[in-house]
Amino acid sequence: MLDWNEGKAADAPALPAGDATGLGQIDHGAARISVDDKAMINCRADVNQLLPLKYRWAWEKYLAGCNNHWMPTEVSMQADIALWKSRDGLTEEERHAVKRNLGFFATSESLVANNIVLAVYRHLTNPECRQYLLRQAFEEAVHTHTFQYIVESLGLDEGELFNMYREVPSITDKAEWALKYTQNLSDPAFGTGTPEKDRAFLRDLIAFYVVFEGMWFYTGFAQILSLGRRGKMVGIAEQYQYILRDESIHLNFGIDVINQIRAENPGLWTAEFAEEVRTMLHEACELEVAYGRDTMPRGFLGLNAGLCEQYMHFITNRRCAQLGLEPVFPPSDNPFPWMSEVMDLKKEKNFFETRVIEYQNGGALSWE
Ligand SMILES: [Fe+2]
Ligand SMILES: [Fe+2]
Repeated sequence: MLDWNEGKAADAPALPAGDATGLGQIDHGAARISVDDKAMINCRADVNQLLPLKYRWAWEKYLAGCNNHWMPTEVSMQADIALWKSRDGLTEEERHAVKRNLGFFATSESLVANNIVLAVYRHLTNPECRQYLLRQAFEEAVHTHTFQYIVESLGLDEGELFNMYREVPSITDKAEWALKYTQNLSDPAFGTGTPEKDRAFLRDLIAFYVVFEGMWFYTGFAQILSLGRRGKMVGIAEQYQYILRDESIHLNFGIDVINQIRAENPGLWTAEFAEEVRTMLHEACELEVAYGRDTMPRGFLGLNAGLCEQYMHFITNRRCAQLGLEPVFPPSDNPFPWMSEVMDLKKEKNFFETRVIEYQNGGALSWE
């Protein structure tokens, strides 16, 4: 069998482009693939063959994502509209936090989606992981749809919200920090296959799955869910509850992918690289703390920037543990234990009780 890696230049991709994409020439008469041929990155096995499954955890996350299907338009916005339009329904501080919060998420969902489709998908050479990525990409579209629906329902200034990532420094700083890890990967000439390039791919996975979806979304969730617990903006709070449930699967998928790549390529995760990852998480935490101060300069009932900082330290340490790293901060308690309660709720148990219809998984539509 021809060895594509033999004699390749040190920084050349490990595979001809067609093999990694699944769109190359069909290999007539090739041997049937076995589970052992499959690998997370730099794999030569046909990426068009889902079966035999090797990574059941990826398939199970795909099924869990499908079982969580929801649409933002199923949630009534009547109470939110009335509150937003009333003169004293929300304090100025709450109004400011809600707008900054929506502005951060509105474009972040698209950044995450573009990273999956244009950077991650091409380099993850495993069909069951790609199956999950396709599901996740759709969920990110649903999340972006949520912000369109909120803007439309509340009559918000769409230009103000969708430009915050370019105009509000605490949001710009986060987006720019993450983008530097995806810019080299989205270059069509980039390919994994050398330790340095494989590490660049790991950095992108860490920046987007662990930091963006696993740390930076959590201050935002805590802000809106805290308002929801006090009966304010309950429609948005319910939508955030569903987004949080989706995002916790995205995060856990990302952690599994990173740890699996690490297990299959033990040379990549050197002590130096581990230290670099801890530094990334530390920097990301500081950016989030600055964002918390900017969105809540004075705080409101049950929530302020200090508590969010403590929460972010708790989350950062938790992410370190999930990646097998030493904690970055001294141990601290979770100041928002109710967040895990919201996360564990089943869709049928409607936390904010605004949902007007229950989604029927299949069977509800007849196709003629
Ligand atoms: Fe999302
Ligand atoms: Fe996500």
